[in-house]
Order: sequence, then C-alpha cells, then structure tokens
Amino acid sequence: MRIALAAPLALEDRLLGELRRHGHSAVARCDSADELASLLADCGADVAIVAAAPRYLTGRLLEESDAAGVRVVALVASDAERRHAATLGLHELAAAEGPWSQIESLIAGTMPAPPPPRTGPGRVIAVWGPAGSPGRTTIAIAVAAELAAAGASVALADVDTHSGSIAPALGLLDEAPGFAAACRLAGANSLSRAELERIGERYLSGHGSFWVLTGIGRPSRWPELSGDRVAATLRECRNWVDYTVVDTGASLENDEEISSDLFAPRRNAATIAALREADDVIAVGSADPVGLSRFLRAHVDLVETLLTDRVTVVMNRVRPGAIGPNPAAQVAQALLRFGGISAPVIVPNDQPALDAAVLTGRSLRDISMRSPARVAIGRFVAARLLPEPPASAPARRALRRRPSAAT
Ligand SMILES: Nc1ncnc2c1ncn2[C@@H]1O[C@H](COP(=O)(O)OP(=O)(O)OP(=O)(O)O)[C@@H](O)[C@H]1O
Ligand SMILES: [Mg+2]
Repeated sequence: MRIALAAPLALEDRLLGELRRHGHSAVARCDSADELASLLADCGADVAIVAAAPRYLTGRLLEESDAAGVRVVALVASDAERRHAATLGLHELAAAEGPWSQIESLIAGTMPAPPPPRTGPGRVIAVWGPAGSPGRTTIAIAVAAELAAAGASVALADVDTHSGSIAPALGLLDEAPGFAAACRLAGANSLSRAELERIGERYLSGHGSFWVLTGIGRPSRWPELSGDRVAATLRECRNWVDYTVVDTGASLENDEEISSDLFAPRRNAATIAALREADDVIAVGSADPVGLSRFLRAHVDLVETLLTDRVTVVMNRVRPGAIGPNPAAQVAQALLRFGGISAPVIVPNDQPALDAAVLTGRSLRDISMRSPARVAIGRFVAARLLPEPPASAPARRALRRRPSAAT
C-alpha cells in the first residue's frame, strides 16, 4: 500500500518503521495538512495517515482526499483530537499509541461494509439482569463492540444508578460529563446530536469504534438521572446513532409504592425508563443455582415492567462446575420448566479472556476473537439484533462517513 503521512516527527518516525515492516511504502511525508492537501492529487497515495491535531487534519485535506480518492486515517493522541476529527466527520480513527494492528486494519480497509444509511430512528437495546453481578456490563460492552464491528454506529450508555462501571471497564475517565450531563441538557430541552458528540467519549478500536456515555462516578448522584430525562436522552440518541446499548441497574422496585411523596426522585427510575424506552431487552442471568433462582424471580417483574416483548434471555458464565454435566442443556431446561422461557442464549464462562479485557480496558473482541464468550455473543448479535444482510453486500468503497450519513 502507498501511504502519505502528515504527523509530528516522533510519530512519523514510528509510522515509517511500522510501514516498512508491514510491506507498505511512504510516498509523501508532510509537516501540515495544507502541504499534504496540495500533494495528494499527484503523489499516488492509496491512504493518508495523519495526526488528528488541527495542524495535520483539516476540512480542506478531507475535501482534497475525497477528490483524489485517497482514504484518510487519523491517529488520535488526546480527547481534544478525537473531538476535532469527529467535528470534521472523520470516524476512521486509531489510537496514536495503540497497537499497529489497529492502524493496519484501517489502512487495509478490512473494516466490514457499513450498513446502508439509516432511514428511521436508531434502536435502543437495554441490558438488564438481577442483583448479584450476572454480567450486565460485560454483555453490554460486548454487544456494543459486535454491533460497531458490523459497521453500525453505536453508543454505549451507563444508566446504572447503583454500580455504574462502564468507564472503569473500558479504561475511560469517569469524571467525564457522560450520561448525567446529557440528562441535564435533555431536561433543559437543549440536547442535540452535536451536544451528544461533545459529551460522549470514543472507545477506539480497529474492529469498530463506538461512543460511550459514561455513568455517574459517585452513586450519590443518582437523582440526576430522573426517569423523564433518561427517556428524553435515549430518544435523542435515536437521532444520533444506529444502536444505543444501555447498561441498566438491577432493581425494578418502583419506589412510588413505598413513598407517599409522588414527586420525590426515584432511584430505580433510570432503569425502568430505559427498559420502557427499549426496542430490545437483553435479560442477563448467571448460570449457577443461586443466579438462576434470582433470575427467575426477577424475570417476572421484568415482564411486568416492559412495554416490548422483544426480550432475549442470556445465560452467562455457563460452566459444568456450577451446574453439572451438559450445563447448557440443564440451564435451558430449568428456564423452560420454572419460567416458561425458551431459546436462551448461552454464554460460556471465559475467565481468562474476561480478566484480560478488564485488566486492559478493552472489549472482549479486542482481546480475543476466538474467546468462547465472544463467539457466543457475536452469533447472538448477528442472529437477533442486526438486520439480515442483503443477498449480495456491495464492497466497501469509502471508509469515511460524513456527518450527514449515520455515524
Ligand atoms: N462469561 C463470563 N466468563 C467469565 N467471567 C465473566 C463472564 N461474564 C462476566 N464475567 C465477570 O463477572 C464479573 C461481573 O461482571 P459485570 O461487571 O459485567 O456484572 P454486572 O452484572 O454488570 O455487575 P454489577 O452489579 O456490578 O453492575 C466481572 O469480573 C466479569 O469480568
Ligand atoms: Mg454492571
């Protein structure tokens, strides 16, 4: 591949070494976006790799690269740079300090074809599960990563008012404004797509990046996530991305029934509002005797709370040690017999991959494509959440999507 570069010297040095090692050649080395823009038409580059700082990445450069048919990949070194690239509508980003494999998959164009532009509003997928940490956050992150890898635009939102943990699980700052800031703006009727992009953090991955609206760092901030605001924020997210995956809390108790003050804030309102706003609900249970009985009891309340009947039951951490031989069949039988639940998704226990994911703040997909838990979640997302692919999917032409298209 013939590559043109525009980056500070230290980054350029690293890129040159990696490019040569991977059989590419550098056809231009520039010190600014303007210099690169004026060369693009004649240098014969297939791809331009640029630093995402304003000096190296400008609207003019993107216009010239479109005209010359050159793809642009930007390398991000800070949140400000990520926002700069997003403002220009460039979402093909990799971390400047990240592994070369991420940059390689972007320049090789091996990202999957983007789905056709969305015509209707985006979908909301709520991930719920009873108390006892069955794996709500794990499944929510993995589902968001699978949807993004399929080429959809995705936001992952943390509305768990008891134990929000998406930010630490993905190594993101939880002092970031996050979902509570979006709720504040929604309450003042001024939440827009542009504000969501300003508030959101971006989880960068060569397999497919996605937005993250982090949760409340301190649980005492729960009153900021009122039911009305959560619902209004999720409605705005529908105009923003193809899929909003929401990590909810466990409790479905409606404090209305125990408090005489009808206007008092309610701690579980965020979870209940997210579940009622959702098009699809993923109900996660832990596949051990205690987890199963908790799940079966709480599932009754879930069904009463929901407005949708598109509920998929995911049994997580399935393992013989906890439930006996042939654990998948045993779990399926128990769900059918005691809860009338059929066709659960079985996600195996996968301690090594999950531990590595949490330790490094990466999605399961970025840790190990072959992890049994990743494979099970990937199959479920393809079969039940993504639209069926058209008979002959067109080859991916341009990696970059403009702000007017679904991003
Ligand atoms: N399939 C799996 N195999 C092995 N470990 C898993 C699996 N799923 C989740 N875990 C581990 O279980 C723990 C709890 O998972 P997670 O944080 O996703 O649960 P949760 O339901 O969101 O809990 P919380 O109540 O804290 O919000 C984590 O350490 C996670 O890595
Ligand atoms: Mg959680």
